[in-house]
Amino acid sequence: MRCRVGRAGFAISLVAVAVVFTLAARGQMQQPARPGKNAAPWWQHAIVYEVYPRSFQDTTGSGIGDINGIIERLGYLQDLGVNAIWLTPIYPSPQKDFGYDISNYEAIDPMFGTMADFDHLLAAAKAHHIRVIMDMVMAHTSDQSPWFKESRSSRTNPKRDWYIWRDGKGPGIPPNNWESDFGGSAWTFDPITKQWYYHKFLAAQPSLNWRNPAVEKAMFDVCRFWLNKGVAGFRLDAVPELFVDPKFRDEQVLPGLNVYGDPNLNQDRTENLPEVHVVMRALRKLVDSYPGHRVLIGETYLPNIQDQLAWYGGARHDELQLPMDMQVGFINKLDAAAFREKINQAETQLDGYMPLFVFDNHDNPRSWNRYGDGKHDAAIARIIATILLTTRSADLMYYGQEIGMVTTPPKTLAQVRDPAGIRGWPKYKGRDGERTPMQWNSGKDAGFSTAATTWLPIPASYKEVNVQVESANPDSLLNWYKHLISMRREIPALYRGRNIMVDTSDPDVLSYLRQEPGQASAVLVAMNFTQQAHTVAYQLQKEGITSSVATALLEDQGMSKTVDLHHVTLPPFAVFIGKVQ
Ligand code: NOJ
Repeated sequence: MRCRVGRAGFAISLVAVAVVFTLAARGQMQQPARPGKNAAPWWQHAIVYEVYPRSFQDTTGSGIGDINGIIERLGYLQDLGVNAIWLTPIYPSPQKDFGYDISNYEAIDPMFGTMADFDHLLAAAKAHHIRVIMDMVMAHTSDQSPWFKESRSSRTNPKRDWYIWRDGKGPGIPPNNWESDFGGSAWTFDPITKQWYYHKFLAAQPSLNWRNPAVEKAMFDVCRFWLNKGVAGFRLDAVPELFVDPKFRDEQVLPGLNVYGDPNLNQDRTENLPEVHVVMRALRKLVDSYPGHRVLIGETYLPNIQDQLAWYGGARHDELQLPMDMQVGFINKLDAAAFREKINQAETQLDGYMPLFVFDNHDNPRSWNRYGDGKHDAAIARIIATILLTTRSADLMYYGQEIGMVTTPPKTLAQVRDPAGIRGWPKYKGRDGERTPMQWNSGKDAGFSTAATTWLPIPASYKEVNVQVESANPDSLLNWYKHLISMRREIPALYRGRNIMVDTSDPDVLSYLRQEPGQASAVLVAMNFTQQAHTVAYQLQKEGITSSVATALLEDQGMSKTVDLHHVTLPPFAVFIGKVQ
């Protein structure tokens, strides 16, 4: 590793890749607005870090992470620069779907700690300037929920209609062809009352009937319980699946089979029905009645930008503040034209609302593997980080993304913990691979636990890929993330500027400007998506850029600190971020 001190600030260079973060250039740019009366709500520029509590930090030696473990690591999260953490479910649960099967919505599963621990977490996080967002699973409960126990007990129980019960088409034949997202029919026959109940996910996760106003009331009361405690908002699980076709018509069958060997279906009778927007508007009113800009984040896998806009509430903007945009992060190949199109759509077709970009979460192989080519993975991970953190967006990060944790799928069926992986084996190995314990250091259990066996195995990469090793290496992915996060906080154009695509016919290099309206200067971001060097001749006069040079703010090795805009040569998979004016 080489280190060199820059002309008027500091500069760091890597063996393979040089990182230059020029404080002088930063200093020339204005500071972003500090929170004040007219400041934008915090979530507009937020970096929300997803914590999967089972895998973050174990303080009891159980091999499973816990709330006190999250408290221990708040200093790390503050130093990284995130604004909020989203906790995947920590409510009491039989853990059939690792917490997404909730049996009591107003308590903490003893596996993770106590309500007193949670209250302590809220206070400690606040002291670290970090907000806490809860996962809210409104579409279904556990079959061990008292609500479902009552519902299944008799056809005349007052809670019968809280869930979706139907007669079959005949003995052993479900009411229609709807499928569970985890394989097989979405209907299970219950011998107690001899009817079928609907479950979009596992049979242990019966779907609630949102056409019954009592369900909305009960769920909104749950939301009030947590808002009263002081949580900053909710990540709404599987929320496009709240309503199903009231006529229970079959889904249209599409060609081919899915990973479970079931026919592919067009899911428009079980997903994204218009009724859901009425509930979202009511829920938004509820959270808006609390002080402090509480936020609603949606788990919204949507097919296009028009549907995305609808989840904000269209022109009224009275639904979610941040429905997740899965269209950019899940392009799944380094295709400059596709990224240009999708980022630009989010910039120009969302009525100015802030997109929430996501590359990684607990349900998908890590971006390291989805975008890496096996040879240039570290450089490609820097590109992903750059897209995430330099576009005009709020952002979700997933624990371990910042150190380059790799997907580590189970090797045998016996090792699989995820029910989806058990059902899908061997074609689909499930989601364990992206849920392995956080890699903190090179010690026992990667610093995650002291247990003889952790709930999922520690990946082999932990000796080199861990927070301790990467913190000490200025050239690490962790430090690349930290630089980007602090640049985005400190450079107004990156914080709140428009996103303007430039060099738009280039198939290999993705380039854009971030520019505040009315400002002569801007930040140019350029990324070479290929393994060949590429030279770009920028024409930026239309954007009001008259100077022919760019001054580096952060750049990969092989690039100089001042580049001629008419001849910018980007080494393979290189990133250049510079100031232009
Ligand atoms: C989406 C969650 O992210 C996933 O982990 C879960 O299995 C399903 N919803 C069902 O709740």
